[in-house]
Amino acid sequence: MKNEFHRDTWIEVDLDAIQYNISQLAGQLKQDTVIMAVVKANAYGHGYLEVAEAALEAGAEWLAVAFLDEALFLRKHGFTAPILVLGAARPDDAGLAAAHGIRLTVFSADWIRSAREFLEADVLHIHLKIDTGMGRLGFTDQNGLADAEAFASDDSLINIEGAFTHFATADEPDRTYADQQHERFLEFLDVFQQKPPMIHASNSAGAFLRDNSAFNAVRFGISMYGLVPSGDIRHEMPAPLKPALSMYTKMVQVKKLKQGEKVSYGATYTAGQDEWIATLPIGYADGWIRQMQGFEVLAGEHRAEIIGRVCMDQCMIRLPFEMQEGSVVTLVGEVLNDRILLDDIAAHNGTIHYESACLLTARVPRMYRKNGVIKKVFNHLN
Ligand SMILES: Cc1ncc(COP(=O)(O)O)c(C=O)c1O
Repeated sequence: MKNEFHRDTWIEVDLDAIQYNISQLAGQLKQDTVIMAVVKANAYGHGYLEVAEAALEAGAEWLAVAFLDEALFLRKHGFTAPILVLGAARPDDAGLAAAHGIRLTVFSADWIRSAREFLEADVLHIHLKIDTGMGRLGFTDQNGLADAEAFASDDSLINIEGAFTHFATADEPDRTYADQQHERFLEFLDVFQQKPPMIHASNSAGAFLRDNSAFNAVRFGISMYGLVPSGDIRHEMPAPLKPALSMYTKMVQVKKLKQGEKVSYGATYTAGQDEWIATLPIGYADGWIRQMQGFEVLAGEHRAEIIGRVCMDQCMIRLPFEMQEGSVVTLVGEVLNDRILLDDIAAHNGTIHYESACLLTARVPRMYRKNGVIKKVFNHLN
């Protein structure tokens, strides 16, 4: 395998972990539940193509993305599985989506009427989105849904393939609001003259809310990547999951600071005594944001604090003792009995691990592990 990058910072994505997570999750679903692998946003920073391939191999049958461009990208790279665009698409792109067998999310009858003008030969498969309490996308009144069904069912170029909703609080232990959304969804489903073949409501957290919340398809994102939707429901997840993403860098310079010397922009850090610091080639342009100051990484097997301001491409850590230039630093991952999770980074930054994963930019090369060995390197800059 050619090493196709020239920088000592990289992400490793363990595709075996993704496949393991899917099989663990699938084992807990009702038989014949379709798994949609949610690979939007570069598969939560992990890599569209590699994750999509691993997920489909592991038993996912559908892919889901947020935007039509993401679906077209997957098609361009040879993916033939059904793909659902979860976000809004333009009516004038209906023909393009239909030609590629890409399913669109629809939430108004007027949209269907406009889109119809752009359909010529290929059938557009649509999933009607119902807003049961997320307040984001979806039909909010039953008449609108009935109108959409009436219009589409008279038209041979439009096929209502699915109906779905999205829970706002599935990752919280209090089920009250999710229960209300579930009830509301059932009421909307009753409006259909003919129930669409695919009914789905659940993301990772929702799928295990109650026996019937999975309907006949689920949309797995975060859990497929080995992350628990939220710490509050960790104990409710059906199986231990394996985080798929780890990230490493190397010390490019190690130097001794004298007591009183300063570090980085603004000279905000002052050495309290003579101390060893290392410079790491990762910064906020990689998604290693400025709030990371004060967070810890694993220098070898030792905790080391990020000191001074994080720069665009570099940051500095304080070492417990002198270390060799070139030593590996674990930014996300496990070393012996210690580990740093995306959850820890998110907690430090006052956000959620979804965001911390998505923030890791394309500039960081990705290495893909399959059957225990690195089988592919992807450098966006090649
Ligand atoms: C509509 C929809 N379904 C499913 C998912 C996947 O959710 P999760 O990553 O929590 O499994 C998302 C993610 O944001 C989503 O927006």
